[in-house]
Amino acid sequence: MRFERYLILIAICSVVLASDSSPLQDFCVADPNGPVLVNGHACKDPKLVQANDFFFSGLHLPGNTSNAVGSRVTPATVAQIPGINTFGISLVRVDYVPWGINPPHTHPRATEILTVIEGTLEVGFVSSNPENRLITKKLVKGDVFVFPVGLVHFQRNVGYTNAVAIAALSSQNPGVITVANAVFGSTPAIPSDLLAKSFQVDIKTIDWIQSNF
Ligand SMILES: *[C@@H]1O[C@H](CO)[C@@H](O)[C@H](O)[C@H]1NC(C)=O
Repeated sequence: MRFERYLILIAICSVVLASDSSPLQDFCVADPNGPVLVNGHACKDPKLVQANDFFFSGLHLPGNTSNAVGSRVTPATVAQIPGINTFGISLVRVDYVPWGINPPHTHPRATEILTVIEGTLEVGFVSSNPENRLITKKLVKGDVFVFPVGLVHFQRNVGYTNAVAIAALSSQNPGVITVANAVFGSTPAIPSDLLAKSFQVDIKTIDWIQSNF
């Protein structure tokens, strides 16, 4: 009997620990000029908080997709909305030209839930080692898909018109690590002989890929 109670207690505790802890105040509007360094941003004096601290305008506007990958992410995170600080949530708009991609990337601090507003997207994510299973699906307008926190994922417009998606992320500061940029475009560069061994190709191939970043 005691043991069963113990198990129930563990179950309850794990439910509690599965979400962010509750904020200790109504809001903590980020003060980017705050002198105090915390894990996140210091709070603005509540008396100085304005409606505009909780506001962002512009997600109706297409992002500029004139780039090598043919997509653009327009974020609405704590950098754009200081009032979203500490709430563990944010939003992005993604625009894609036909066959444009949002290249493989990961958000170290957020799960993402994406919905297609216009067009058709092929989306996918890869599970962690050792399976590295690709889970992929074709989405049309109105479809919703989830990318689990930390996993490498991507989207591609597989239609003949522009595509638009809106995604919510479970962090005010989800972060983005684009795999290609991080591995081949770091500053300073990761040694090319190390990458050659990692990718099982010769050093010249690595030098060539690195020169594109
Ligand atoms: C879009 O980006 C390209 C490349 O950076 C630039 O040349 C162009 O002026 C931009 N277009 C707009 C409308 O901002």
